Amino acid sequence: MQVNLNGRVALVTGAALGIGRAISLTLAKNGADLVLNDIDRPSAEALTQEIQKLGRRAVMAIADVSDYAQVKRSVNEALVHFGQIDILVNNAGWDKGIIPFLKTDPKDWERVIAINLIGLLNCTHIVGAQMAQRKSGKIINISSDAGRGGSFGEAVYAGCKAGVIALTKTWAREFARDNIRVNCICPGLVDTPLLAKLKQDDLGKKVLERIEQLMLLGLGKPEDIANAVLFFASEESHHITGQVLSVSGGLTFQG
Ligand SMILES: NC(=O)c1ccc[n+]([C@@H]2O[C@H](COP(=O)([O-])OP(=O)(O)OC[C@H]3O[C@@H](n4cnc5c(N)ncnc54)[C@H](O)[C@@H]3O)[C@@H](O)[C@H]2O)c1
Repeated sequence: MQVNLNGRVALVTGAALGIGRAISLTLAKNGADLVLNDIDRPSAEALTQEIQKLGRRAVMAIADVSDYAQVKRSVNEALVHFGQIDILVNNAGWDKGIIPFLKTDPKDWERVIAINLIGLLNCTHIVGAQMAQRKSGKIINISSDAGRGGSFGEAVYAGCKAGVIALTKTWAREFARDNIRVNCICPGLVDTPLLAKLKQDDLGKKVLERIEQLMLLGLGKPEDIANAVLFFASEESHHITGQVLSVSGGLTFQG
């Protein structure tokens, strides 16, 4: 798919690897300039150079999405550089492993909630405010099919991802008056460093291979998610807001 994002600036969180990297490259190839948020500086640096080679402008925004002050500082720096952010992709996410709930450590819940839920609150609060001022914006949240149907061994993560869906719908209602569209994509399993990490132990491997078998169209590629993000970022989707799209190879069917 080719759309025209010339003159648009996109901020992608968790941009350096996996799905975020594919989203950033896809948006850049379609004309957008990029603000690349991540905590992994070397990988973010490499991606910045790759995007600049495509002829687009790109800056890093090194910040932990779970830290409001870090996000604010990095967004302010990006705004000095670009003057605006038109597209926000809330992609950064994390899970510790495939662990049955009763065996999880409460200390780990906080980190999962901080990245997968508070991270979105922080970024949307900060970037959404300047979008509302400019009466223009697109916000695309990356949830998960785990948030629609639950996922064995991922209770807290799935709970956060369900929260991402509710945030999408609520923000779509609140922000429509400011000409901001908010939509959400639910991947199934996608071949990324996160998936490889979750498959490292025996239970993770077993559970995830079983889910993979249930994906009618097989394991997803990061580009599959990026193409759906591109659609929601484009003017072609101007009449769509508050929607949840599974890009999961037929893993789930929601009414
Ligand atoms: N891979 C899958 O199978 C899958 C399935 C469903 C949903 N998702 C979701 O897709 C999104 C991307 O996942 P992925 O598989 O590409 O993950 P990944 O771990 O491969 O890449 C995530 C990126 O986010 C960055 N990151 C992690 N914590 C961060 C933080 N606190 N602040 C800023 N950046 C941070 C990492 O450094 C990394 O570059 C996540 O929201 C994830 O929950 C992934």
